[in-house]
Amino acid sequence: MQWFCVRLAGLVLMCSGLRAFRRVVCRSTRAFGFSMNMSLEKKIGVGLVAVLILLLGIGFISYRSTTDLIDREARVAQAHQVRETIEHLLSLMEDLESTQRIDLLTGESQYLQSYREVGHGVEEALRNLTDLTSDNQNQQQHLLALRSLIDLRLAQLKNVIDLRDTEKIEAKELKFRLHVGKETMDKIKMALGEMQDQEQVLLTNSSKQAVRAASFTLSLIISGTFLTIVLAIGGGALIFYDLSKRRQAERDVLAGQARQELILRTLPVVMYSAKPSGDYGALWVSENIESITGFSPRQFLNDSSLRASRLHIHDRERTLMEFEKLPQAGSLATEYRWQTYSGEYRWFRDEAVLIRRSDGTPQEIIGLWTDVTARRQVDEVIRKQAHIINQIQETVISINLDGYVMSWNTGAEKLLGYAVEEALGKHISFIYPAEDREFLEREVIAPVKAKGTHQIEVRRRTKSGALRFAQLSLTLLKDDADSPIGIIGYSMDITDRKRVQEALLNSRNQLAALAVRLESVREEERTRIALEVHDVLGQALTGLKLDVAWIHKRLTDSIEPAQRTAVLTRLVSAQDLLNSTIQSVRDIATTLRPGVLDELGLEAAVEWQAREFHHRTGISCETTIWPHKMVLGPEQSTALFRILQEVLTNVVRHAHATKVHVKLEQSGEHVSLQVEDNGRGITGVEQSGPKSFGLLGMRLRAQQQGGTFDIQGTLGTGTTVTIRIPLYRTADD
Ligand SMILES: Nc1ncnc2c1ncn2[C@@H]1O[C@H](COP(=O)(O)OP(=O)(O)O)[C@@H](O)[C@H]1O
Ligand SMILES: [Mg+2]
Repeated sequence: MQWFCVRLAGLVLMCSGLRAFRRVVCRSTRAFGFSMNMSLEKKIGVGLVAVLILLLGIGFISYRSTTDLIDREARVAQAHQVRETIEHLLSLMEDLESTQRIDLLTGESQYLQSYREVGHGVEEALRNLTDLTSDNQNQQQHLLALRSLIDLRLAQLKNVIDLRDTEKIEAKELKFRLHVGKETMDKIKMALGEMQDQEQVLLTNSSKQAVRAASFTLSLIISGTFLTIVLAIGGGALIFYDLSKRRQAERDVLAGQARQELILRTLPVVMYSAKPSGDYGALWVSENIESITGFSPRQFLNDSSLRASRLHIHDRERTLMEFEKLPQAGSLATEYRWQTYSGEYRWFRDEAVLIRRSDGTPQEIIGLWTDVTARRQVDEVIRKQAHIINQIQETVISINLDGYVMSWNTGAEKLLGYAVEEALGKHISFIYPAEDREFLEREVIAPVKAKGTHQIEVRRRTKSGALRFAQLSLTLLKDDADSPIGIIGYSMDITDRKRVQEALLNSRNQLAALAVRLESVREEERTRIALEVHDVLGQALTGLKLDVAWIHKRLTDSIEPAQRTAVLTRLVSAQDLLNSTIQSVRDIATTLRPGVLDELGLEAAVEWQAREFHHRTGISCETTIWPHKMVLGPEQSTALFRILQEVLTNVVRHAHATKVHVKLEQSGEHVSLQVEDNGRGITGVEQSGPKSFGLLGMRLRAQQQGGTFDIQGTLGTGTTVTIRIPLYRTADD
């Protein structure tokens, strides 16, 4: 159990030692700026130092525990020796005792001889004991007591011998002496026994400690060995891992170099370094220069004037100037024509930076040289296209798919007032009125994206705030892979046309209003005239009729019979004429404004008009009226009645019909008037003829009442006119 505890304590100690060691290593590596990605050499060095410190620690502890062990073994041996010496001393004393007894009993004098010898032995043993227990205070005290006891005993013995030699001892006296000697001997034995016991305790303790020390040393050695093996394996693995990583990194570097070389060789970009002044001759150029210019790198290095001398005559001065300014500018980017080996001039882009020495003086120029001939050609084409587009007087604008302006031609600048630099990059909605933004997304941009092309009329606002109308032709722009990239729009300004259209519409509306106004004026005029004719002329004629009747009566008595007949005949005919004139006046008044319309309403007026029509033309005229009581305003009634009159007039004049059917019906919130004839049928051309004022007037009347007018004709079958107006239409509706 104790052994186990010691071992456990040793292991715990070692573990905590290791942990502390690791902490110390970590802290110190951090303190010295080491990290996991330090170099392999450093790692090995640090590892070795760590292992060395660890081994030294283990060695030191092992040394200490081994010396301790030896020490303890020595103590055990010493204790054994003490015990042996005590036993020896005891046997010497017992020998002396028995010899004396035999001597005394036998009377022989061998005793003296052995007393001397034993005395020497005892003395030597006591000396030995004193030496052996010199470090033990307790034993020393025991030894002192023992020594005095032994001395006493020896003195007693000596005394007995002396007595025996000089005089004869009596038996009684001898017995007493023997008895005293035995007592002393017993005390000696006891003292020796105590010493023996104490030494036994010491021995046991020392043995235990020795065993403990031995097992601790053993476990220390085993764990030290184990730790060393682990460290060696771990270190080896780390080094192996690091080496393989290093080898991989080397391979990567080599591959990277190979790739770079390949890129340099295949890229259309030449890298160079050149003198910072003079003829700016090349100091180094990448290999691909040959495939680009036809000159080899060697030719460039051998002839330092090659770079400057083959510049195009028109670009030379400008380019050399730019290089001269390089020390101030620090870097440059320029394009120039350069004559290649084949004699052809190609465009090159040169981007260079100046490298300075530590003292600030220019060291060299490092630059990139790119053949941009193809791009320049494309640029040229684009420039020409832009030039052509700018010739167009109308706007040509392109936007990207998000709606931001990509191009803006001169026409757009002129018509919309924004300069190209103001417009580029802005969202196209900036030229649209704020309320049209949604319309722009929904009706202009979305359809082009969906269909590819689109045409639409739009309103746009110029920089000065004026509204302009345009007919837009839009096309979706696509890249080489057929993916949409933007929208281009060509516009035609239609503001003037729009203005004319608007003016036309306005005047048409005015005319319509005028016509309506004329109609109502006419209606009023008619009513007034009808009343006038009816009342004034009718009354005058009636008065005249009464006068003529009175004259007729009186004449019968006062005139001669011969003349009477002639006068009477004249008077009768005058009376007839008056009667028919009165009838005519009534008819005229009714035609102008039938009193029935005002007095009995539309339903009665329609019936009256149908009878009148049949009576006048002989064409049969049927009516269907439902319900009989309609709630119509005077204006509505007049409008419908006048339309009916106009329709019936048309039937007489154009239809060649034998039958007419008039329907006046109210359904829901509407009242409808339908006139159907069985004539030849109106044609489409006749409906919209330039002189169809009658139809136009009817349509206007219907519209004025908020209603609709419709005329349908079927060739040879007849014509149907339908008017629908809403009920209860009052002036303030
Ligand atoms: N009921 C009808 N049947 C056949 N043709 C008709 C009828 N009503 C109108 N038309 C045709 O429509 C034309 C236009 O009619 P309208 O505008 O009233 O002009 P107008 O009666 O003065 O000729 C007429 O000239 C006639 O040719
Ligand atoms: Mg007509």
